[in-house]
Amino acid sequence: MSVFLVGRFCRQIVIHNSQIRNPFVLPLVQSFHLYTGRPSCVNPLVNSMIQQISVSEDFFFKQLFDRVSCTYSYLLADVKSKEAVLIDPVIDLAERDAKVVDNLGLKLKYSVNTHMHADHITGSGVLKKLLVGSQSVISKASQALADKYVEHGDIIEFGPHKLEVRSTPGHTNGCVTYVCHAQGMAFTGDALLIRGCGRTDFQEGSSETLYESVHNQIFSLPENFRLFPGHDYNGILDTTVSEEKKFNPRLTKCKEEFVELMKNLNLPYPAQIDKALPANKVCGLYNLPTEMEEKFKSILNV
Ligand SMILES: [Fe+2]
Repeated sequence: MSVFLVGRFCRQIVIHNSQIRNPFVLPLVQSFHLYTGRPSCVNPLVNSMIQQISVSEDFFFKQLFDRVSCTYSYLLADVKSKEAVLIDPVIDLAERDAKVVDNLGLKLKYSVNTHMHADHITGSGVLKKLLVGSQSVISKASQALADKYVEHGDIIEFGPHKLEVRSTPGHTNGCVTYVCHAQGMAFTGDALLIRGCGRTDFQEGSSETLYESVHNQIFSLPENFRLFPGHDYNGILDTTVSEEKKFNPRLTKCKEEFVELMKNLNLPYPAQIDKALPANKVCGLYNLPTEMEEKFKSILNV
């Protein structure tokens, strides 16, 4: 394919497709479309932001939301074997999630956490009791209790589907991102949020480390990979590598500016941290706040 740019003196410049990514040629192509007002159908930057990878027929995906903590949970499953994985379940909604799994005839293999959360208690412990046979998963570096520990490079399998574990510390030491290469999806937890990122001022947080994690492990994925964060506070469901590399107001900065920005956020002490961390250290099975212990007493046998 070639692009024809016609100048004011009717001189014709022919740019072949292979040249469009050339840094000297790209601004010319972009300015041409701005000038003419025509859709940028040949602009590779715009295309990479709107081209989405369709999930395969044997892959099931459902996004779930907790209104209180604005947490997203993600149910992934293999359509044929019915094996399922639930990423970042919330204890308050564990019964809802178990019912969804049950209604759909799925078999929960793993309830997986991206990290040891400070703003809600994981639903992994309750789900283990409700959906017998399911196992809890978290990174070894999180130092939290689970049935299965993962490290950078490990693969989580359900049916023929695979999630690659990528270590993305910085928000906490044990943060990981789960990447499903075949479906073009990554689940970033709090390492990367939509137009933002997780805070770095508690739980071994480090702005320098977070910056490296996002740039090396998430921004290195293909531009059109869809990114699903641990939370969103503005009602947006997902984003892409391309969008965040262009529009993330924090992570488009240089490392020094990012570190300075994170240092000056002056965020309040996390409201739930003193309740969430003791329980999350033990998979949401023990150390629950009194009202929650009462609610789940019959399920957890505490
Ligand atoms: Fe978090």
